[in-house]
Amino acid sequence: MLQDPKLAESLVDLTRIAHPPRRHHGYLDVLGPEKPENDEPLSLANRFMQSPLLAAIYERAWRPMFTRGFSYGGKSTLRTHTTLMDEIAGRGDHKILDVACGPGLYTRELAAQLGTDGVCIGLDLSGPMLRRAVRDNSAEYVDYIRGSAHALPFADASFDTVVCLAALYLIPNPEQAVRELCRVAGADGQIVIFTSLRTPAASLPGVTRAMRAGGFRAFGRDEITGWLRAQGWTNIDQTLTGQGQFIRARREAALRMAT
Ligand SMILES: C[S@@+](CC[C@H](N)C(=O)[O-])C[C@H]1O[C@@H](n2cnc3c(N)ncnc32)[C@H](O)[C@@H]1O
Repeated sequence: MLQDPKLAESLVDLTRIAHPPRRHHGYLDVLGPEKPENDEPLSLANRFMQSPLLAAIYERAWRPMFTRGFSYGGKSTLRTHTTLMDEIAGRGDHKILDVACGPGLYTRELAAQLGTDGVCIGLDLSGPMLRRAVRDNSAEYVDYIRGSAHALPFADASFDTVVCLAALYLIPNPEQAVRELCRVAGADGQIVIFTSLRTPAASLPGVTRAMRAGGFRAFGRDEITGWLRAQGWTNIDQTLTGQGQFIRARREAALRMAT
């Protein structure tokens, strides 16, 4: 059970949303009736993400398979992921946002060490994913919102840690999403991204065409770090795995606190 059913309500900035927020299946919906934002057509991949069947098998089968796939031809994605999650898990009164949280597997993990004033919000576009999140990954200090990474429904600097894991490559305008991650991260905040990497394998013409048709993309090594730098984030660690990349960007104050 959620400790406080109004966690999400206390963080949403009403001036940034077009529909009155409404609790629905246990999550707060700020997008209105379950249809894509601005009636934009969903990519094949994002249509798939709306499937209750995928939501049901995601945590046990789909994500582990993808995590292994990202290691192809390089360093273990799982090992890097486990270390990083441990480092960034929110402690005490931390405020964490998990953008494109899917069924909430990491939202819950990130909240495990929070204290009384801590909060971890999982936000996703897909109602079926969020229904799973509420069912399987509700916990103290955790709440879920149906919203879009393109226009996060929060005031500037609302969170200490903002993560976006295994999702940026599906988001139609990833640069806009990165701008939003930067905007809602606080003065001593950090951003953590795990996403695809444009490797020689991912650059083969057939692979590129298939990825585009499905609504996926692979990012160049300096593409996302470049967007972060353009937003003024200069302390950036990047770890490349086989087909993926982990990025952790910190503002000065976050670095000072870590040392
Ligand atoms: C592959 S899942 C990743 C879930 C989880 N973060 C993880 O690491 O396993 C990608 C998620 O991105 C969500 N998504 C795609 N476009 C989005 C957008 N514009 N705003 C919010 N979520 C989005 C999908 O609904 C899906 O749940």
